[in-house]
Amino acid sequence: MARFHTIDDLDVAGKRVLLRADLNVPVKDGKVTDATRIERLAPTIESLAAKGAKIVVMSHFGRPKGVDPSQSLRPLVGPLSQAIGGKPVHFASDCIGPEAAKVVDALKPGEVVLLENLRFHPEEEKNDPGFAKSLAALGDLYVDDAFSAAHRAHASIAALAHLLPNAAGKLMQAELEALGAALEHPAHPVMALIGGSKVSTKLDLLKFIIGKVDQLAIGGAMANTFLYAQGRPVGRSLCEKEMADTARDILAAAEKGGCTVILPDDAVTADKLEAGVVTRTVGINAVPMDAMILDIGPDSVARISAALAECKTLVWNGPIGAFETPPFDRATVALAKKVAELTSAKKLLSVAGGGDTVAALAAAGVEDKLSYVSTAGGAFLEWLEGKELPGVAALAVR
Ligand code: 3PG
Ligand code: MG
Repeated sequence: MARFHTIDDLDVAGKRVLLRADLNVPVKDGKVTDATRIERLAPTIESLAAKGAKIVVMSHFGRPKGVDPSQSLRPLVGPLSQAIGGKPVHFASDCIGPEAAKVVDALKPGEVVLLENLRFHPEEEKNDPGFAKSLAALGDLYVDDAFSAAHRAHASIAALAHLLPNAAGKLMQAELEALGAALEHPAHPVMALIGGSKVSTKLDLLKFIIGKVDQLAIGGAMANTFLYAQGRPVGRSLCEKEMADTARDILAAAEKGGCTVILPDDAVTADKLEAGVVTRTVGINAVPMDAMILDIGPDSVARISAALAECKTLVWNGPIGAFETPPFDRATVALAKKVAELTSAKKLLSVAGGGDTVAALAAAGVEDKLSYVSTAGGAFLEWLEGKELPGVAALAVR
């Protein structure tokens, strides 16, 4: 990872700081249902405010096509204010132009304004230089704290970063440091625990990661594709049969590169994916023709746990079974607890992220017991694919 500036390198007193945040949080009936991203952003705002910066917070929200009042950031003013200890947050009903300038000009040192949804302007997603210039007119300095949007080459993330002196915010810094410790300069042995439903969506990830880690444990429905590729019975399980050749290629490449792949030894099966259905736990060669594999079995959990105990670093992405539907959450919960236990005992550095992963950890009650849980979904995946993230590249000190 290239070197980047942090907010401690900037002289922010009395300056207007454009802070790119990711306030794209889940909202239901006007209420934020998971405030993690807002809470994790708060230390950056508080630190900038303590140094007398005028803080101009920018974010996207949802995927509006042009102005769409149902996707306004205005309802986020309250939750944002609450996250920073009740400090008032002003609001500007546009993110550029006279409306924004009026509110920004009125800011006093230490005050905060939230600008309206960047994606109300289609130029944002086009990384439009003119739009970036309009944003730059509202600030003296640029701070990016939106790691979870760093995979988007959008104007407020890419073009804007080059127009002003820039730095990573505290959350961006923490994400980059944690990810670096897990994959760029990790303590070996390193395990990747990868679940989720489809091989096809994680192909680039698997190809990249087998060259980085010592052990790759595969769970979730994507394991079924590998089992099928090995000629094992998978019954009516979710399985991408057309990916069998690809799965075999990945296994061969892993073996060649010295990466041990751990596939399930046993499986929890049922007739249908439904809470409380009758289940049968079977050896991996005995999956009935009319059954579906919905979780890995206890022998597989024991094998992965034993391997984990020998590892120093873990990267985890994706649930291991159909965890939203008990009892198919057992392996995910058991492994999450094992990871939490090894992490607490300082035997393991554990980093997790991406989509459903955080929900799975929360279901196990251990989301705050890992070394680091990323706020990112797609950006975490792209990072696991070894891709350069535009939002990270833009901060690199040259
Ligand atoms: C996310 O929630 O993953 C980020 O905010 C990016 O959002 P997007 O996928 O709509 O670009
Ligand atoms: Mg997304």
